[in-house]
Amino acid sequence: MIGVFDSGYGGLNILKTLLQRLPEYDYLYLGDNARAPYGARSCEVIYRFTLQGVRYLFSQDCALVVLACNTASARALRTIQQRYLAVECKDRRVLGVIRPSAEALARIPVGEISSEPRFDIAGKVAILGTQETIQSNSFVLELQKLAPRLEIYQQACPLLAPLVEAGEISGEGPSWFVRKYLAELRIRCDAPKRILLACTHYAALVPIIRQFLPNETEILTQDEIIAERLKDWLVRHPEQDIRLGKTGKRLFLTTDDASDFAAVGRSILGTDIDCKAIRLPGE
Ligand code: DGL
Repeated sequence: MIGVFDSGYGGLNILKTLLQRLPEYDYLYLGDNARAPYGARSCEVIYRFTLQGVRYLFSQDCALVVLACNTASARALRTIQQRYLAVECKDRRVLGVIRPSAEALARIPVGEISSEPRFDIAGKVAILGTQETIQSNSFVLELQKLAPRLEIYQQACPLLAPLVEAGEISGEGPSWFVRKYLAELRIRCDAPKRILLACTHYAALVPIIRQFLPNETEILTQDEIIAERLKDWLVRHPEQDIRLGKTGKRLFLTTDDASDFAAVGRSILGTDIDCKAIRLPGE
């Protein structure tokens, strides 16, 4: 199966588009809702929680895991690849969302693999993310390699993921915080060309975010980006693709209440889902 991991519900927005674009594959989603949000936790803790999730997904027959979480990708992916995959699980793969999203923000076409920096790509772009994603500087480091002339502005939005996780996606509460964070960003950069919502939870807040940005600013969410770049990755890695089941299976796991998860899952995916509560070893 393809494992899809997030701290909670945000990764369901990524999964939804994966199911539309790559419907033939088998998927196992794991939300660590009992410990969400991850966004203000230490690097060490994010690494430990993410590794527990990845190990569990591997134990359930996932050959490939997508970290559908920027915070986990920023703080845990590299260490998991270096310390765990390279040593214990050489045949499995874990992919994150930072590099593909940075490529999309820099307008690098899908499938263009070049180590040459693109100096022709310039202008102002902005990134919204959790405290740890922004503090990690992961997007800036990737973008500086890809497109050194881009002007990058980052804004941490620490309370947005907790609001979404609590089901607060419309009305005055989220509006107040979105307005505050975007006002802070716009003091530094009033009208970015593109703004990346670099937290999978923020997809639920697009209508509110749109209200506080100029019309000319394009909002990039990660669902389409990850689906099209994963599709391309699978074409370029037939040795991995061949290991993935293609019977259209969809399974859902949460570390918290299964019926709560199923209700949110239904509202995001638009279909009934069966969800099982699990306890991660080491949790
Ligand atoms: N949805 C996650 C992300 O993309 C994590 C949010 C959180 O747990 O704080 O960063």
